[in-house]
Amino acid sequence: MSESAFEQLMASVDAPLVVMTTAFGNELAGCLVGFHSQSSITPERYCVWLSKANHTYRVALRASHLAVHFLTEHDLGVAEHFGTVSGEDTDKFAGLEFELDASGVPLLAACPNAMTLERISILDDGGDHVCLTTRVLTAEFGGEFTPLRVSDAIQLEPGHASEERAIQP
Ligand SMILES: Cc1cc2nc3c(=O)[nH]c(=O)nc-3n(C[C@H](O)[C@H](O)[C@H](O)COP(=O)(O)O)c2cc1C
Repeated sequence: MSESAFEQLMASVDAPLVVMTTAFGNELAGCLVGFHSQSSITPERYCVWLSKANHTYRVALRASHLAVHFLTEHDLGVAEHFGTVSGEDTDKFAGLEFELDASGVPLLAACPNAMTLERISILDDGGDHVCLTTRVLTAEFGGEFTPLRVSDAIQLEPGHASEERAIQP
């Protein structure tokens, strides 16, 4: 099937990729995210859209804080790690170097360009992703970098297809 105009526009924009992490209690979660954006200048605000299919979404619904890690052109391995398996059946943080911030959110040692965020609201407009609006608590800039983009990760198979939903026990 040929690409729709919408798909062509989005491919041309070629969003940079981030890893969003969060935690509720001892449960850590994180996934690769292409849907994210600054949403206010003053005050500093940031939005992330999470798939309803994802383990990270289910943890984020209960979490108050999250972190966004900006990936560089050298981080395809990080993208694969967080974007192709699910925290449902894999501990993505086992063997990974990270520290917990004051809110218990994992900060990845491999990704120094990162922000810690406090959740303000969740918007579910009926699509397959929900929007988390957040206030920026801290931002760390490790120096100029070339972002890893969706086109660099086109070969990655997401751990969950966007139309999947968790099976109720
Ligand atoms: C290039 C790419 C972009 C993605 N963008 C998003 C996104 O914006 N939001 C999202 O929730 N999942 C996105 N995903 C999917 C998740 O990262 C993936 O399904 C992950 O394995 C879910 O892990 P989890 O179940 O542990 O949360 C993307 C995956 C890829 C490969």
